[in-house]
Amino acid sequence: MIKTLAKSIREYKKHTILTPIFMVFEVGFEIAIPFLLSILIDQGITNKDYNTIIIVGICLVVAAFLALLFGRLGGRTAAVAASGFAKNLREDMYNKVQDFSFLNIDKFSTSSIVTRLTSDVSNIQMAFMMIIRGAIRSPITIIFALIMTFTINPKIGLIYLVVTPILGGSLILLAKYVHPIFKKVFNTIDKLNRVVQENVNAIRVVKSFVTEEREIKKFNKVSDDIYDYFSKAEKVMAFNGPIMQITIYTCLTLISWFGAHFVVSGEITTGELTSLITYVMQLLMNLMMLSMIFVMIIISLESGRRIVELLEEVPDIHNPENPIMKVENGSIEFKNVSFSYVNNKEKEVLKNIDFKINTGETVGIIGGTGDGKSSLVNLIPRLYDTTEGEVLVGNKNVKDYDIKVLRDQVSMVLQKNTLFSGTIKENLRWGNIDATDEEIIKACKLAQADEFIEKFPDKYDTYIEQGGNNVSGGQKQRLCIARALLKKPQILILDDSTSAVDTKTDSLIRKAFAEEIPNTTKIIIAQRISSVQDSDKIIILNNGKIEAIGSHEELLKNNKIYQEVYNSQMKGSEENA
Ligand SMILES: Nc1ncnc2c1ncn2[C@@H]1O[C@H](COP(=O)(O)OP(=O)(O)OP(=O)(O)O)[C@@H](O)[C@H]1O
Ligand SMILES: [Mg+2]
Repeated sequence: MIKTLAKSIREYKKHTILTPIFMVFEVGFEIAIPFLLSILIDQGITNKDYNTIIIVGICLVVAAFLALLFGRLGGRTAAVAASGFAKNLREDMYNKVQDFSFLNIDKFSTSSIVTRLTSDVSNIQMAFMMIIRGAIRSPITIIFALIMTFTINPKIGLIYLVVTPILGGSLILLAKYVHPIFKKVFNTIDKLNRVVQENVNAIRVVKSFVTEEREIKKFNKVSDDIYDYFSKAEKVMAFNGPIMQITIYTCLTLISWFGAHFVVSGEITTGELTSLITYVMQLLMNLMMLSMIFVMIIISLESGRRIVELLEEVPDIHNPENPIMKVENGSIEFKNVSFSYVNNKEKEVLKNIDFKINTGETVGIIGGTGDGKSSLVNLIPRLYDTTEGEVLVGNKNVKDYDIKVLRDQVSMVLQKNTLFSGTIKENLRWGNIDATDEEIIKACKLAQADEFIEKFPDKYDTYIEQGGNNVSGGQKQRLCIARALLKKPQILILDDSTSAVDTKTDSLIRKAFAEEIPNTTKIIIAQRISSVQDSDKIIILNNGKIEAIGSHEELLKNNKIYQEVYNSQMKGSEENA
């Protein structure tokens, strides 16, 4: 875990190494102060030696100043190192997520990715800062303070040998108990983010169903869970304070008691007792610091694990060695393809699919909801890989192509499509950054979008809100089609992309496709028979299997399902008319 995380330190290595070094210097001068103090008292004040008082006094001031200076320097480098490390970590994670395939994303869930990129990184940043500042400084101070105490008086040193193991033991017990609770906390924070994200994304649905109250309850439940876990963890963690304090006061009392006796019996001097007390304070302060670092490490262990899990996830779809850089033509072939999703391996979503589509053909796919239409077309641009069998595009296995080349040639209008915030032009250039204004207008004319865009006051510079909320459903679909067209692909796939478009515009789009891009292979998934009836062939999917393939006329003659759907839709449209 540490190795994977440490990779993100990179250019902040210098600051990371400098921090403990500065800290060691700070400790050195801090340790010198009580030592100088005892000389000042025993040789200067007791003997009324003014020379010594002045010289040692100046040394004291200089030591204090240097300790402060190095402390400040260390604090600064630590802050730079920790925030830089966190920045790199976030960037590395973000880049990793960009490499994820649909399958990887299914595994992590969006909300969990967001928590990992935000809260988890903050925890690690905090822990990292505390570690580079304290993990070397505190033990060194403790060891020095111990050595000094033992040199002054070994009997007093013995006190620590009794107290420290008791302290260490209790801290380990605490950690054992608390770590599992923090594990639950982070999973619940994932859940919280999911609830918020879903609610905010779907706020219009929530409003229209008037389910605000249920949503509030759902949120409060998760929020309460987090409160419960945290308070449970904090209740245990709160013992940390009293344990430390008992240790500190026991030590102080014991040292004062024995120290006073030893001063009276002449075993140690007053100056030595003063420095002993300062050492014990330093020692205990640093023990406290260590225990805080310890707590932070426990909290961040789980965050670290979650970050590493994301960083080490292997993107399951990647470029082959020597990829093919050109798609010869727009033919598509499925050879005995079966497919299931990772999170539901038992259920075969597609079973033994076999068919061939020639370049330039228009193919309709129809079937009931959940029958596997979207899953089938997702395999063509390799958004998912088949579980069994092969998919060929341009007579070559899709796995042999360079992914970018393949996806540029297989342009897909996803069923769950989104627009980004930005102008219409910016959104369309997503399809092709170099598209000229003329190309954009041509694509929009093909997708029957030009007409309504021209009616907007700002035309192609109209600003689209996040998710495309300020355009209608049908307008959004037409913009998405135009965006896909701008790639000038050899294969164009429309996954239920005209469902919100009126039948007349729908047929205009198909007419434009047939006339303007006759050589592009077109796959149209639709619920309406009218959207596919003039295709070269129609594939009927039923529960993951191909029920029948044929032209409209053939299917109407031979296929029962097709006849039923056709008749019910015809009846519906006659009743509407
Ligand atoms: N990302 C996913 N993870 C797990 N299962 C999925 C995923 N996407 C779809 N499924 C399942 O796969 C099956 C086929 O879904 P698919 O989206 O291909 O259906 P569809 O024919 O496109 O339906 P619709 O007409 O409603 O769009 C469904 O049972 C669905 O529950
Ligand atoms: Mg679908």
